[in-house]
Amino acid sequence: MRIDIITAVPSLLESPFGHSIMKRAKDKGLLEVNIHDLRTWGIGRHKQIDDYQFGGGAGMVMMCEPLANCIESLQKEVTYDEIIFMTPDGHRYDQKTANRLSLYQNLLIICGHYKGIDERIREKYVTLEISIGDYVLSGGELGAAVVVDSIGRLIPGVLNDETSALFDSFQDDLLAPPVYTRPAEFDGMKVPDILLSGHAKKIDDWRYEQSLKRTEERRPDLLGEG
Ligand code: ADE
Repeated sequence: MRIDIITAVPSLLESPFGHSIMKRAKDKGLLEVNIHDLRTWGIGRHKQIDDYQFGGGAGMVMMCEPLANCIESLQKEVTYDEIIFMTPDGHRYDQKTANRLSLYQNLLIICGHYKGIDERIREKYVTLEISIGDYVLSGGELGAAVVVDSIGRLIPGVLNDETSALFDSFQDDLLAPPVYTRPAEFDGMKVPDILLSGHAKKIDDWRYEQSLKRTEERRPDLLGEG
């Protein structure tokens, strides 16, 4: 999968994809992440990318031309399955969307900054608007990192144990069960006997029950009981 990200602050995205599972995905050639500095497409001597908003009001707006030129130059190389804009007024991001996006070949993510981007860019190019939660960040970059990380780990072959993403929280709308490692007793607290029993079917059943219990307690909305 190839993911292109357009940003006015490329340094914010230097680190998130260079470690752990994302690094493995890149090293295995399963994921290519390209960061594009919007400033390169800026206008004039000062490489301007934002301007005052029509109608007045505080905050700058990212201009049409640099974004349009950058997007169209990338579109000469690739046909995107989705052109995503990170914005607090987008669709709330969830595991279902991550699963769907992980099946695509080419994604473009646009990170907004300042007051946002000119509405005409959203109308002309953007096919999906994503919010990572009901709060406002100072830019779309951290949100883009969340989206890329959540998609990257779902690409077949990225995780060592192919099945492990299937047991993540939110797959099947359930939270993940508790997990334990050695020692079997810590500070008088014991690992549940069932996990030491070696009885695969019983362990599966226990995990499912725990998932259900945890979801009922913490996120009843996932069970339609909100
Ligand atoms: N940009 C600013 N806030 C955001 C949010 N909550 N989600 C995605 N992008 C954003």
